Amino acid sequence: MDKVIGFIGTGNMGAAIIKGLLDTGFASPGNIVASRRNQLALDKLKSESGIQTTSNNTLVASKADILFIAVKPNVYESIIEEVRTFIKADAVIVNIAAGKSIHFIEDTFQKPVKVARAMPNTPALVGEGMIGICFNEEMEKTEREYIVELFSSIGKVEVVAESLLDAVVGVSGSSPAILYMIIEAMADGAVKSGMPRQQAYTFAAQAMLGSAKMVLETGIHPGELKDQVCSPGGTTIEAVTKAEETGLRSSILAAVEAAVAKSVEMTKES
Ligand SMILES: NC(=O)c1ccc[n+]([C@@H]2O[C@H](COP(=O)([O-])OP(=O)(O)OC[C@H]3O[C@@H](n4cnc5c(N)ncnc54)[C@H](OP(=O)(O)O)[C@@H]3O)[C@@H](O)[C@H]2O)c1
Repeated sequence: MDKVIGFIGTGNMGAAIIKGLLDTGFASPGNIVASRRNQLALDKLKSESGIQTTSNNTLVASKADILFIAVKPNVYESIIEEVRTFIKADAVIVNIAAGKSIHFIEDTFQKPVKVARAMPNTPALVGEGMIGICFNEEMEKTEREYIVELFSSIGKVEVVAESLLDAVVGVSGSSPAILYMIIEAMADGAVKSGMPRQQAYTFAAQAMLGSAKMVLETGIHPGELKDQVCSPGGTTIEAVTKAEETGLRSSILAAVEAAVAKSVEMTKES
């Protein structure tokens, strides 16, 4: 029998994962049950996706073989307290919150539980997420494989040590915001040179997408790819010089480091 996949919370991330599971056929609507408080939003989700919806979190917990807790980190504790006596004995709890360790989840459930801790990002909405994931000792090999396959429906998955999840927050969880800022800034540059804005976004975003694919698909070092584009005395080396003069690399490195530091701080507080 197919597993029942439950979601408590269906905001940006919960909804993105549900969409991926349905779009790829990993799960059928009848195998997904989801809750949130806003009834109008639940009705909309039900009519658009055909999944089962409810405002009753404990109902989701009691049905789910795989239980996603997809609420904001500050309500994690109260949600776990609400549902902890209702979960199935062998349910897998999927924790996607920034700053909530496996240890925190185990402690809050107050009993041995199977925990997968994942850090996805919002490009999951278009099937291009990047997901770092780790597991606790309770999770068996086949269960780990199932969860990796599940997340593969919304993007690329890498199993990492839990100690690396703060770095994952910086490099892929939070970084889409920085990348959107770069696209916006590149488009501003093109608009300044006379290109219509919508067209400028297309050029900038496709340039970023293509460059990312070059890194992933050729396996060539990004520095070498950069060198390949810089003709002596050409336009690109002018752009590279200006980017270096204005601190592009150090600015981005510092932004990623700041997100990592915040994630470390949030984990310590929980
Ligand atoms: N967004 C990202 O880029 C991103 C990336 C990686 C990880 N995450 C993690 O994903 C989690 C969710 O983030 P998000 O961006 O999806 O947040 P979000 O859009 O604010 O969604 C939160 C969801 O939780 C529901 N909720 C709140 N209180 C609830 C309750 N008591 N019972 C049931 N549902 C409740 C909300 O619906 P109602 O208000 O209707 O209850 C909403 O559907 C967070 O822990 C975050 O750290 C997010």
